[in-house]
Amino acid sequence: MKTRLTLIYIIGIILTAGLILVSCGEEKKEYRIGVSQCSNDDWRNKMNEEIEREILVHPEASVEIRSAEDSNAKQIADIRYFANNGFDIIIVAPNEADAITPVIDSVYRSGIPVVVFDRNVNGHSYTAFQGADNEKIGVLAARYASNLMRGKGSVLELYGLKGSTPAISRHEGFRKELESHPGIKIEASAYGNWKYEDALHLADSLLSVYPDVDCIYAHNDRMAVAASDAARRRKLDPYIIGIDAAPEIGMKAVRDSVIDATFLYPTEGHRLIKTALAILKGEPYDSVAKLPIPSAVDLSNADILLIQNESLKEETSKMKSLKSEIDQYWDRHSAQTTLFYVSIAFVVMLCVLLFFILRAFWLRKGYQETLLRKNEQLASQHEEQKRLNTRLEEATRSKLMFFTNVSHDLRTPLTLIAEPVEQLAGAGNLTPSQKTLMHIADKNVRILKRLLNQILDFRAYENGKLDVNLVETDFGALAKDWVEAFSNVARSRDIKLDIKIEDADLRLAVDEEKIERVVYNLMSNALKYTPANGSVCFSCGREGDKIFFSVCDNGPGIKEEDRKRIFDRFFQVDRVHPKGSGIGLSLTKAFVELHGGEINVESEVGKGSEFKVILPVVHVGVGTESSVAGTDHAAIEAELADVETQEREFSEDKPVILVIDDNEDIRVMLEELLSDKYNVVGASNGREGIRYATRYVPDLVVCDVMMPVMDGLECCRNIKEEISTSHIPVLMLTACSMDEQKVAGYESGADGYISKPFNSAVLRSRIENLLENRRRIKNIWGASHDRSEGDLSKPANGSAERRIVSTDVENEFYARFLKLVESRMGDADMNVDQLASEMGLGRSQLYRKIKALTNYSPVELIRNLRLKRARHLLTTTDRSISEIAYEVGFSTPAYFSKCYREAYGETPTELRSRL
Ligand code: FRU
Repeated sequence: MKTRLTLIYIIGIILTAGLILVSCGEEKKEYRIGVSQCSNDDWRNKMNEEIEREILVHPEASVEIRSAEDSNAKQIADIRYFANNGFDIIIVAPNEADAITPVIDSVYRSGIPVVVFDRNVNGHSYTAFQGADNEKIGVLAARYASNLMRGKGSVLELYGLKGSTPAISRHEGFRKELESHPGIKIEASAYGNWKYEDALHLADSLLSVYPDVDCIYAHNDRMAVAASDAARRRKLDPYIIGIDAAPEIGMKAVRDSVIDATFLYPTEGHRLIKTALAILKGEPYDSVAKLPIPSAVDLSNADILLIQNESLKEETSKMKSLKSEIDQYWDRHSAQTTLFYVSIAFVVMLCVLLFFILRAFWLRKGYQETLLRKNEQLASQHEEQKRLNTRLEEATRSKLMFFTNVSHDLRTPLTLIAEPVEQLAGAGNLTPSQKTLMHIADKNVRILKRLLNQILDFRAYENGKLDVNLVETDFGALAKDWVEAFSNVARSRDIKLDIKIEDADLRLAVDEEKIERVVYNLMSNALKYTPANGSVCFSCGREGDKIFFSVCDNGPGIKEEDRKRIFDRFFQVDRVHPKGSGIGLSLTKAFVELHGGEINVESEVGKGSEFKVILPVVHVGVGTESSVAGTDHAAIEAELADVETQEREFSEDKPVILVIDDNEDIRVMLEELLSDKYNVVGASNGREGIRYATRYVPDLVVCDVMMPVMDGLECCRNIKEEISTSHIPVLMLTACSMDEQKVAGYESGADGYISKPFNSAVLRSRIENLLENRRRIKNIWGASHDRSEGDLSKPANGSAERRIVSTDVENEFYARFLKLVESRMGDADMNVDQLASEMGLGRSQLYRKIKALTNYSPVELIRNLRLKRARHLLTTTDRSISEIAYEVGFSTPAYFSKCYREAYGETPTELRSRL
């Protein structure tokens, strides 16, 4: 990944450098100018040189000159070439107007600027025109000829190309001017097409017809020289006048007396380029530029003009060599610049490469160091782990050793207890209550015995000292017998027990005792975790050459993370509410593995679990056949079945105690312990506890802390917050003895704490204590109505106990009740039902609450309050006794007097007479 990134960086840099180099090497010309010459001759060569000279000083522009070689078709093709190849402007000297006008017209209309020069087109489809006044040239030529001939003589005219505009104009000017020279006559005019060859033949044939002609007027120098050659061949010597004065032909012909005169036809090539660039740059330009006409060139000035031309040529060549030197310099310069940029790019690339190499090196070094550190860390962790493992092993070993020792120590006394307990439990002369207690003892002694045996077996297994005593069995019959022993327990818990034994040969040799323990363990677990109305299924059969049995239930299921560890020793799925020692399943697995078998579990949370044991079929030969020992159903029931509580009636004179504990045995035992002095109600979890507390409003609650559904702390908090139960003392009863847990208990409002295992006498005395306390408090609340006459809303002042118990909830409840009674004081029909519903309680809840708080029933309390108010009014006002009786809600004054005397020992009249 990193190398790929590096490569991308480098390629990016190379591309950028390449682009820089390309852009440095190539100087882009902004303007491209196309020049289409109709012909190729000296006059046009001069013009082309001027064009190229001018372009030298315009580095922003380039020019391409094409010659049509006097062909209309070639010129049309040249113009199209410029238009189609992105030229910015086209400069044209049209060969013949009629033939070239359409293509110029279309190019111009397509948006390309066109400059027409020298020869013209039809119409005005162009951007600018540059040319000389050809008619004027014709006029000047006529005057010059007239001068030569002293106003008298004959002339032959050699015409240019028929369709080219200069030829037409030059003829017109000549003809018109000769009108004012009557002595001169044009003998003949013929088309020489601007060309030497055409003119030579033409002149020859004309001279053969007009040998005496005085002058030949040719529209250009080439045709003039041809006329001269033709005349010389015929030994004739007419005056010959040409036009153009191009140095190489016209001027030289004059200097060499080949012709007599020529008229300078201006080229002005540089001016064309200037006009074109002005058009392209949007600068001002002349749309029609008429060039000046200088005077004739003849023997008097031909020399000097040729010299001038030579020096111009020399200057031009110097300029050209200068330009080429500059170009060479620039080429060198650009090559060096290119080299410079290449070097820079190379250096940059090198730096980048170096950076990445160094970076990779540092990173690698860093990784290596981290790896080294991690390795060291791992090694030390490994060491630590090893140390911890050894220590853990040691701890486990010593724990097991300790368990074994303790188990050994416990086994003898336990056996000594078990026997008498079993006998006593079966005795016929026990009271129901004694019977229940004995059953509990018997059941738990059995559990303890089994636990001890498991621990000892486990230890033996760990030490490899557990023997397997294989005997031949009919496993189907054996398993059926074992499992059926659980039928009663299942029935008593409303659990459906399904037994499926395959009708197959299920004989194999097993250690009966151990496999029975396996079945017992799996079955008792399944029954323990399956709720009422659930089902437990035992199946047994053959799978190939193996025999299997499985126990499934539709209990809560086991979470995946727990499933993996379920066979680990001491592992408990529910550590908060453990239902066993945590070695049952690991011992089960050990027993199965001792038989060379395997045990697996499949489970889904919320659906149930299935434990499956697979045993290899082995046989140990005859003589060791099992006799299918019958299972002790009674023993299983004694251990697993719930001990049934004896039905009792609540008696009115005994306080009610609510016992909330998830352990059925504890509940039953407490009930037995306390039922002589109290009415005991049991609840199996916090939520049920709250329900019962609200329903029965007990005098005291004994509550376990750790329970399923709702724990004791939350349950206690609820009881203390609920108005109908807030006054009830709560005694927490728990196996947790940690101080913080006690603090948490007190914070939830608990009134006392007793740790398990508890001493029944201590428990009784704590209960009695709390109830006595409550009684004293009741007296204080009750007494307050006797003492306080004015303000009914407060109990007696200055009482230490009052401060202890009058919680905010009680105060608020009591104040509300008093306010309600006071507001209805005059209502003789005020009754407890109304008051209870206004207080948000049921009639009996209000009754128990008021009774618990004040020791009075609500009716007694209301009457006391009425009498107290009456006594206050009797002593502080002058109102009549009858008025006061009605005011405080008595239906008749007589009944009021009766009640008053019962309460205060005197009648209202006696009180008044005393005052
Ligand atoms: C050159 C030329 C000149 C003449 C001009 C007229 O091609 O023939 O000799 O003056 O063209 O357009």
